[in-house]
Amino acid sequence: MKLGIVKETRPDERRVAASPTTVARWIKAGWEVVVERSAGDGASYPDQAYADAGASLAATAAEVWRDADVLLKVRPPTLDEAALARAGQTVVSFLFPAQHPELVEALRDRGATVLAMDCIPRISRAQKVDALSSMANISGYRAVVEAANRFGSFFTGQMTAAGKVAPARVLIIGAGVAGLAAIGAAKGLGAIVRAFDVRPSVADQIRSLGAEFLTVEIEESGEGQGGYAKEMSKEFIDAEMALFRAQAKEVNIVITTALIPGKPAPKLWLADMVAAMKPGSVVIDLAAEQGGNCELTQPGQEIVSPGGVTVVGYTDFPSRMANVSSELYGTNLWHLLDEMGGAAGFKVDQGNDIVRGALVAHGGEKTWPPPPPRVEPRPAAPAPAPRVEPKPAHEPAVVKGRGHGHGAPPAPPSKTAAMVMSLVGIVAALAWMGLRFGQADATVGADTAALLQHLTVFVLAVFVGWQVVWNVTPALHTPLMSVTNAISGIIVVGGILGARQADLDASVVVAVAATLFATINIAGGFLVTRRMLAMFRK
Ligand code: NAI
Repeated sequence: MKLGIVKETRPDERRVAASPTTVARWIKAGWEVVVERSAGDGASYPDQAYADAGASLAATAAEVWRDADVLLKVRPPTLDEAALARAGQTVVSFLFPAQHPELVEALRDRGATVLAMDCIPRISRAQKVDALSSMANISGYRAVVEAANRFGSFFTGQMTAAGKVAPARVLIIGAGVAGLAAIGAAKGLGAIVRAFDVRPSVADQIRSLGAEFLTVEIEESGEGQGGYAKEMSKEFIDAEMALFRAQAKEVNIVITTALIPGKPAPKLWLADMVAAMKPGSVVIDLAAEQGGNCELTQPGQEIVSPGGVTVVGYTDFPSRMANVSSELYGTNLWHLLDEMGGAAGFKVDQGNDIVRGALVAHGGEKTWPPPPPRVEPRPAAPAPAPRVEPKPAHEPAVVKGRGHGHGAPPAPPSKTAAMVMSLVGIVAALAWMGLRFGQADATVGADTAALLQHLTVFVLAVFVGWQVVWNVTPALHTPLMSVTNAISGIIVVGGILGARQADLDASVVVAVAATLFATINIAGGFLVTRRMLAMFRK
């Protein structure tokens, strides 16, 4: 089976369908690969690298189309390219079939099997094939780089001998894959980042990246099907506009990523908001290809507003990082071909949700749109139980509820457990009293007051300790451990003093036991702390 990789024909496209690394993987897995000469130039992959990986080089695209069993591309084929497809050949690329009906017809007429990388269903199993997400991640990162390049100040605040510089304030509209990548990159550069999205389920993700989640007063969820957003009511959009108008006076950089499937990008950053921004501010519109979220966006262009605000509407962000985007796109293709059986067992299995979702034409038939996937798409919002507590990015989420499994905090004490503990406390107290009074010692009467005092402290300590250990929030476990270590230190000192008397009686035994257990607690605390610190050392 032969894979063919052609040079992209769109003038501003630098990506290529696979890097030499991916080609080498395919060859090792039993595929033959033919690459059009100079296909990887824009992505800094020279022909020689493909040859070294084991591919053969073809002088023209026509040769590749002629020889390949599976033709791999990034951008949708042009109608001229589609005319080179043939029956029995499989063509894989981004296609956007809803926007290119005539291309779908042309490829179907040629009898080719066509898979669209933009139609990979959004199911967990398909994440490794999800090229839209791979590219959106790159776009989000690159948007911040482009903004930083045009912004005339630091992202991070600075205190220098020459004066103080305030940190940049960045607003991200839409916290999908691209928006979250942009938040991460802007935070990494030290900016103050705020983000807004119509899907409340992203709030935790935004906060876990260290950004502020902005909200409006109206309660309306934008959760649509398959994790995507739906169109919002006029009242909600009005409230969103009011929020953005207030933000426009404060923020230096706005990165917009808001999309609704099958609809033009909603206009969210209006001309008056651009006018309200300070001169030198920057708007990066990642939705430019779908018409743009900013009213002033010119798709594919960069303009400067009369107020001195730069509005960037480029539509080729992944292509501006062609080396890495080609690598990741190639890896997505690798997983798709693997899903289809690899070189040895390559077939179009329409029972496979991933393949069926992406299949646009097969055997002279148009197969798009596909039926809804059999497996459930990713739930839009987390299920109400078990409840997941927001945690900082470096800490695993903690599932509250039944389990006592790894990483889960202990459940609060049940009524039965509390009763058992009370009984244990009372029995221990009675046993202690029996021991003391049973000795019929003359000193007992004199010691009664002190004994009762000690008992009160003991029983209280049991209850307070029990309640504190089981009810304290997991975030406070580390300081709690320090406090118990300090208490253990006091117990050790008390235990040593108590064990000093000459006669070996019950109180000496208890003192020795207390010293031993408290020492174990202190040593264990140090060991656990060392292990935790080791996790943060680079
Ligand atoms: P997208 O590119 O379709 O939209 C970008 C963002 O804009 C979305 O978060 C959307 O809620 C937001 N938006 C729409 N209208 C808005 C408005 N009026 N104001 C503010 N924000 C608005 O979304 P993307 O990046 O493709 O991801 C959507 C979701 O799907 C994400 O939660 C992502 O995690 C999930 N996903 C799941 C995958 C899987 O399970 N295989 C793969 C990729 C994404």
